[in-house]
Amino acid sequence: MCILCAQFCGGNFGEAGLKILVTGGAGFIGSALIRYLLERTDHDVVNVDKLSYSGSRATLSAINNSPRHLFEQQDICDGDALERIFASQRPDAVMHLAAESHVDRSIDRPADFIQSNIVGTYQLLETALAYFRASDEKARKRFRFHHISTDEVYGALAPEGPAFTETTAYAPNSPYAASKAASDHLVHAWHRTYGLPVVLSNCSNNYGPFQFPEKLIPLCILKAIRGEPIPVYGRGENVRDWLFVEDHAEALYRVLSDGRIGERYNVGGDCELSNLELVKKLCAVLDEQRPDDPVVPHSKLITYVTDRPGHDFRYAIDAGKIQNELGWRPTTDFEPGLHKTVSWYLDNLEWCRTVTQGEYAGERLGLRD
Ligand code: NAD
Ligand code: DAU
Repeated sequence: MCILCAQFCGGNFGEAGLKILVTGGAGFIGSALIRYLLERTDHDVVNVDKLSYSGSRATLSAINNSPRHLFEQQDICDGDALERIFASQRPDAVMHLAAESHVDRSIDRPADFIQSNIVGTYQLLETALAYFRASDEKARKRFRFHHISTDEVYGALAPEGPAFTETTAYAPNSPYAASKAASDHLVHAWHRTYGLPVVLSNCSNNYGPFQFPEKLIPLCILKAIRGEPIPVYGRGENVRDWLFVEDHAEALYRVLSDGRIGERYNVGGDCELSNLELVKKLCAVLDEQRPDDPVVPHSKLITYVTDRPGHDFRYAIDAGKIQNELGWRPTTDFEPGLHKTVSWYLDNLEWCRTVTQGEYAGERLGLRD
């Protein structure tokens, strides 16, 4: 129940033993969310993921044995497959994370982003709406469609400007951000036009275990321990707001359970760092944990490389709404979160090897053995 005013919530998802359909659950945030749901709630999970290059069975190994987790390898663009899954599984809610998620890749190959992020979201909305309309009144009252999005839809902030709020105008700059903005608009339209009970959340940069090693933190860890150059775009001055992925999972469940229908909630770590500050902190943790690596101190490996085209200068989230309405706050500070993350990667180099065997990781990231 909403801690502010139950009557504004338009229903309460907080019943026990429900079934949640999670899309993108074989990826970084989706798998953290499923671990959260299995460990911290008694809900069952249906995980729909096509296993693109960034989704892997290896990521699911810790949850696959749970009788409360069912994995369906399917593309969300396949309407017939979605209809079959909704009809057979009868979910009480959808948490939609499946997406192409990497900005650099969206610059190289935008078509995949249009397909999965826009067409895929459209297909999921259509299937969910038909299912919602055919459900009985009790099921309709409970049903939620939670769309998981990003702060990148708001565009770039100046160095000193105020952080993004839920009313900041959309101004996406990369093909990835534009495709997520489009999907957010579709979700909003399916609520306003067709009455689908949706909630949205827009989050800042996540870090933690199981992030595909094309993203800044895991990429730097793997490069640094091999004694290879750590690529910092431009002068490393761009700023991101970092949040530990388990805190995001908790926020997502709060939004699903208690968020007001039709509302969006910004989620962030209140932890702004320039990329150079972050990479230096990472190198210091590696100096402690890997004193015998080929190049120590690891910061000697920091190398400035050509900037990302259209690189957004700064993201920062004002998380006041989710804090005040839903009582959510991050619980993992950046330094312990970073230590935990580095330790996880060092203990899971086999996972890194497994997920980077594909064409993209091998050729673009230079990480294949
Ligand atoms: P990820 O790339 O690690 O995982 C995405 C998952 O979606 C993969 O398992 C992939 O196989 C699956 N997928 C992609 N296209 C699909 C399709 N057409 N059908 C079925 N499955 C498909 O991404 P992530 O970092 O875990 O991000 C998850 C979501 O959270 C995305 O919607 C992203 O926009 C959003 N988000 C990410 C961050 C972040 O910092 N990583 C921050 C805010 C929001
Ligand atoms: O803000 C939320 C977004 O955060 C999510 O929506 C995206 O899915 C997620 O990928 C992330 O986007 P970023 O572009 O911010 O993340 P990335 O890890 O790719 O880059 C973080 C910063 O580091 C960014 O300013 C670019 C820079 N960078 C990145 C890479 C891969 C480098 O300097 N060198 C690199 O090699």
